[in-house]
Amino acid sequence: MPVWIEHADVEDGSSKRFHLHNDKISYMMEVTHEGDLAHVYFGPRIDKTTLSRRTPEVQRAYTANPNPVCEAYTLDELPQEYPTFGRSDYREPAFHLVQADGGRISHLTYASYEVVQGKPSLQGLPHTHAADGEAQTLVLQLKDEIAKTEVHLSYTIFEGHGIIVRSVQVINQGDDPVVLDRVMSASIDLPDSDFEVVSLSGSWGRERTVKRQPLVSGTVSLESRRGTSSHQMNPFIGLVRADTTDGHGHAYGMNLIYSGNFRAFAEVSQFATTRVGMGVQPFDFRYTLNRGESFQAPEVVLSFGSNGLNAFSQDMHAFYQNHLIRSVWRNRSRPILVNNWEATYFDFDTDKLLAIAKQAADVGIELFVLDDGWFGGRSDDTSSLGDWFVNESKLPGGLQHLAQSINDLGMKFGLWMEPEMVSPNSDLYRRHPDWCLHVANYSRTESRHQLVLDLSRQDVTNWLKERLTALLERASIAYVKWDMNRNLTEVASAVQSSARQQETWHRYIIGLYDVLEHVTTRFPEVLFESCAGGGGRFDPGMLYYMPQTWTSDDTDAVERIEIQFGTTLLYPPSSMGAHVSAVPNHQVGRLTPMTTRGHVAMAGTFGYELDLTTLDKEDLAEVQRQVAFYKKWRTILQYGRLYRLKTVDKHSSDAAWMSVSHDSSAAIVTYVRVLEAPQPPLRRLYLQGLNPEFTYEVKLDTGESLGHFGGLELGNAGLLMPVFMGDFSSKMFVLQKVDGEFYLA
Ligand code: DGJ
Repeated sequence: MPVWIEHADVEDGSSKRFHLHNDKISYMMEVTHEGDLAHVYFGPRIDKTTLSRRTPEVQRAYTANPNPVCEAYTLDELPQEYPTFGRSDYREPAFHLVQADGGRISHLTYASYEVVQGKPSLQGLPHTHAADGEAQTLVLQLKDEIAKTEVHLSYTIFEGHGIIVRSVQVINQGDDPVVLDRVMSASIDLPDSDFEVVSLSGSWGRERTVKRQPLVSGTVSLESRRGTSSHQMNPFIGLVRADTTDGHGHAYGMNLIYSGNFRAFAEVSQFATTRVGMGVQPFDFRYTLNRGESFQAPEVVLSFGSNGLNAFSQDMHAFYQNHLIRSVWRNRSRPILVNNWEATYFDFDTDKLLAIAKQAADVGIELFVLDDGWFGGRSDDTSSLGDWFVNESKLPGGLQHLAQSINDLGMKFGLWMEPEMVSPNSDLYRRHPDWCLHVANYSRTESRHQLVLDLSRQDVTNWLKERLTALLERASIAYVKWDMNRNLTEVASAVQSSARQQETWHRYIIGLYDVLEHVTTRFPEVLFESCAGGGGRFDPGMLYYMPQTWTSDDTDAVERIEIQFGTTLLYPPSSMGAHVSAVPNHQVGRLTPMTTRGHVAMAGTFGYELDLTTLDKEDLAEVQRQVAFYKKWRTILQYGRLYRLKTVDKHSSDAAWMSVSHDSSAAIVTYVRVLEAPQPPLRRLYLQGLNPEFTYEVKLDTGESLGHFGGLELGNAGLLMPVFMGDFSSKMFVLQKVDGEFYLA
């Protein structure tokens, strides 16, 4: 068992050091002579025998000193691991607790440590996992002797990844209750401020586009107060150097394994250091801990990469693949699906669905997904959420009959549901009007004509578990699309005391996870895809339970390039639902060729979202070709190493990316010309990730060979694009290693 966590006492016994390291990174901490836990280093690996690096102490003007005889020791400059409030550090605290007597300051000092093999699991929260030989965990116990509170900081280092997973548990050891106002999952003080902040932000239909902004004095805050991790801001913060690109440079990231309100911040201090932290959103959060009770904060994934954002992303993808997603599907080929949403919306009957399914089966599609509108009296979005019983007047014979008919065509059957919601016009709401989030005497704000079930209530989650289990047991359902189509309002619970109302945001998410735990454990073979009005909850928390997420309701091929580039900054292609839809596109009205729509959608878990029965012969033949092509190459497209080669920006309207097999013997390259220009330059694409020793045959996806090229040559001299023209045009290339060929001397 390699030693990844080392510790040492300073010779005079005045302090203690910890060093977590693997072949990629080092993470160092020190317990100072005052008992504070200082951050020393996080970055590229440092020789593992070095434990002599110390926290600098410099005498500063106008700063307070917790120990009057140590004037060079001030918390306002000390780089810390878990900063608190009220004792001379004026930067953002990670922790804020209110004691029974109203006291609001904390003094957490180091008490003890423990090294655990592997990665302990968290109760009730999604979490990373590892076998004993793949990870080691350091748990540092801090104590506030006055508040009688313990804080356990957990750090797991994994074999082969530039990643540390942190989490925090707070335990009230006193007799009186304490109130948590803020419990960040991680905080870290980096030694300079020469960074740009990277966020994945946007809106419905344009989620997770990469934004970069320089860090200056003050605080940048990235957050959600919507009850979901949100379309607007993904639970991620990145810090990169100004010269960091896809191919070069340092990158730090924090990604929260949580699906609700969050906050991430980066604060530049007066001494030009950077404090970056992340955790559950402290706004409107208060959590009471009675004697002996504890609070578990979600895990945050701290990542570091030295070699640019492509390598950073590849590490994240592999990490989530191996250590987060737990479904049996995590390494399985994902089926090609057809979804009826954009084909029919609510306007369907059995004949229409079976006609689409028949056409889908004929072209080789493997899974038919019935979207919204199959239950209760739902014929538009104004009713029936909560009435999870099939509408037999629309689908005679029920789901069993439909599923059987789909199975008879040789396809699996999948079903849409939106379990967290209730329509005011539903039998469920008429029976249980108090089951939704609401505040007494205030009106209940609807969004898409629906209210949100109060999942912080156990009677509601119990009902939901039973209903979903009954539903999934009845028909042969191989796939579930779990949707969630609004943000939370009137976040209060009819069953909580007034003092605990601000726990409702978090308790909602805990209730959701409880239901997901139940359903995904009970039906382990079902492939779950999460969705929240597209990508409103594309986060590691949902990925733990559901290995795929519907990326965005914007299915336009051009829009999708940017969304997919942003999404794959963190999340693996196998998790990214991507479908070909009809033209003119329903979200932006754009007309793009079927080939380009296929090429773009093949960057993720592939499918169609259009009425296949309306396609002309040519398009249908192209669909058939795409399906066969994707089946042949999906292992690489879903699980290969992804390289973003060209990003649409002010210099170019072309985009390109490639996926390479893990042994580098094959690769798929995609090139999209978004807007054409007259007399364009000859385009060369400098390929990455190939084996310089290998010779590759390069073919178009249509089969035409472009010749044999060396791996080194394709990287250094590039692949010359064949001449092709037109807005929204694209080419896809297949590279395969050929044996027995040698370079000319
Ligand atoms: C929002 C989803 O993102 C869509 O794909 C579709 O399932 C609709 N909801 C159905 O209401």
